[in-house]
Amino acid sequence: MNAAVLQQVNTLQVNPLSAHIGAEIHGVDLTQPLDAQRVAEIRAALLRWKVVFFRKQFLTHEQHVAFSQQFGELTVGHPVFGHVDGHQEIYSISKYRKATRFQGEALLRPWTGWHTDVTAAVNPPFASILRGVTIPPYGGDTQWTNLVVAYEKLSEPLRHFVDGLRGLHRFAPPPGVKATTEYDANVKQTALLTEHPLVRVHPETGERALYVSPGFLKSIIGVSPRESQAILELLWEHVIRPEFTVRFKWEPGSVAFWDNRATAHLAPTDILDLEFDRQLYRTTLVGDVPVGPDGRPSLALEGSPVIAAQAIAQN
Ligand code: SIN
Repeated sequence: MNAAVLQQVNTLQVNPLSAHIGAEIHGVDLTQPLDAQRVAEIRAALLRWKVVFFRKQFLTHEQHVAFSQQFGELTVGHPVFGHVDGHQEIYSISKYRKATRFQGEALLRPWTGWHTDVTAAVNPPFASILRGVTIPPYGGDTQWTNLVVAYEKLSEPLRHFVDGLRGLHRFAPPPGVKATTEYDANVKQTALLTEHPLVRVHPETGERALYVSPGFLKSIIGVSPRESQAILELLWEHVIRPEFTVRFKWEPGSVAFWDNRATAHLAPTDILDLEFDRQLYRTTLVGDVPVGPDGRPSLALEGSPVIAAQAIAQN
């Protein structure tokens, strides 16, 4: 797959940023409609590098939506936490957005905060596109990890073992903190609980990804609570190994476009120790239902699939 993908990438400049994940793409203006060749090249780079970055792309909300639509249907900004007024496909990533969700001191573990977007849904968004508007002069970097390479780097017996497991994903406060009434109300209004395979077969590349979104995956089905916790901690610790990751330094006008079927990411918390503001905006593209190595799809236990924002508008 990789050789074929690389052959297609021939008019844009794709500069890899680490061995396994992340590439900067140069030579394209995202404010303008793209021709089919450019769309194919960006998509190929996304599949190869899992997250791609663009610089100096000063998009309006409308241009952000138009760029995103060239790669799929857009969801509403966030199925649980809403959208920017007047722009139903745009989700605001502001500095203090998490402050309205939790109270207390979280039990911080190395994987705390790492997640894949909205895996509590039966069809999590296939990709997310985040653009930086107000960026601190230092601090506020985002990190991504490659869940395909994480799977491939497990030992063969462990790969075989996790291939057959499934887990429960839902929105819930991290250990140690309490949900605010606002968070509880949001989560109850759009209850989402899904059984996903722990190993997801990528629908486009056929690669297997260790699909263990730390923020949403609460337990493994069919094993004891202690076994579940121990296995998950082993896998979470593994997926965030630094050699599987890339760290991105934002500038105003930066855009990050990542494949949620093959990555998890970590929003920064160091910004809370700095006086600078940070404001980004995100779109997400409607995803399909994950399938495990045994061909079994994920199962919605509560809630409906995330549908296109346009379909909601038409109802
Ligand atoms: C996100 O989780 O999508 C936001 C990442 C960030 O704030 O850098």
